Amino acid sequence: MIDIQGPRIIVAMDFDNADDCFYMAKRLSPQYCRLKVGKELFTACGPRVVEYLMRLGFDVFLDLKFHDIPNTVAKAVKAAAQLGVWMVNVHASGGQRMMVSAREMLDKHAHHHNGHKPLLIGVTVLTSLEAHDLHAVGIAEEPEAHVLRLTKLAQHCGLDGVVCSAREAGLLRSQFGEDFCLVTPGIRLDSSPADDQKRTLTPHAAVVAGSSYLVIGRPITQAHDPVATCKAIIQSIS
Ligand code: C5P
Repeated sequence: MIDIQGPRIIVAMDFDNADDCFYMAKRLSPQYCRLKVGKELFTACGPRVVEYLMRLGFDVFLDLKFHDIPNTVAKAVKAAAQLGVWMVNVHASGGQRMMVSAREMLDKHAHHHNGHKPLLIGVTVLTSLEAHDLHAVGIAEEPEAHVLRLTKLAQHCGLDGVVCSAREAGLLRSQFGEDFCLVTPGIRLDSSPADDQKRTLTPHAAVVAGSSYLVIGRPITQAHDPVATCKAIIQSIS
C-alpha cells in the first residue's frame, strides 16, 4: 500500500445544481474526504461551485477529462490550476504532445495550491467501452492491452497517475511503481447497491489492490449519514 497524505476518499458530487451540491458538501467534512466535480455539475454551475467547495476547505478533483489539441488542453489545465484545484485530468488518448504540453504548463506557470501543483491524471480506456466498441473506432487490441499502452504513455509524459478500474489497479501498481497515482471509481460497500456499476470492489479490496484514491459517489451521497459512512470506510481501509 502506498503512503497517502490526507483523505483517500474522493466523493463524486454528481448533482445537476449548486444547492444540492452545497447541501451535501456541508454534511461532509474535508477531514474525511475530498470532492470530485464532473461535467454535469461544472457545466450547470461553473467555476463558482469549485470555489465554494474550496472555501469550505475541500480539495477538489476537477474531472473534466480534457481532450483537444495540445495548446487548448495546456491552457485548460492552467485555468484549472489557477482555480486552485487539487487534481485535474486529461484523456491519455489525446496523445503524447497533448499530455506533455499539459505537464509543462503546470510545471512552468501554474499557481500553486497549498504549495502543490494540481495532480495531473490521465484517463485511459473508459470502463464503459468493451472490446467491440474499441474495434469500431479502429482500436484492434484488447481493452487491457490498450489500458497498459495508454498508462505507459501517460507515465512517460510525466503524468502523476491514471484513473482506472479498481480491478486493474493490481496490474497497474505492479507495472508502474509505488509512486504512480491510481484513482479508482466503481467502489461499492458490501452493503450498498451496485446501481449501474458492473464490476465493483470494496474500498478495502481496492486499497489492497493498489488504489491510491477511491472515487465514491452514491454509496456516500445517498447514505443516511454521509460522514459516518466516510468514517466507516476509512476504518475499513486503515
Ligand atoms: O455513484 P458512483 O460511486 O457510481 O460514482 C462514481 C463516479 O465515478 C461517477 O462520478 C462516475 O462518473 C465516475 N466514474 C465511474 N467509472 C469510470 C469513470 C468514472 O464510475 N470508469
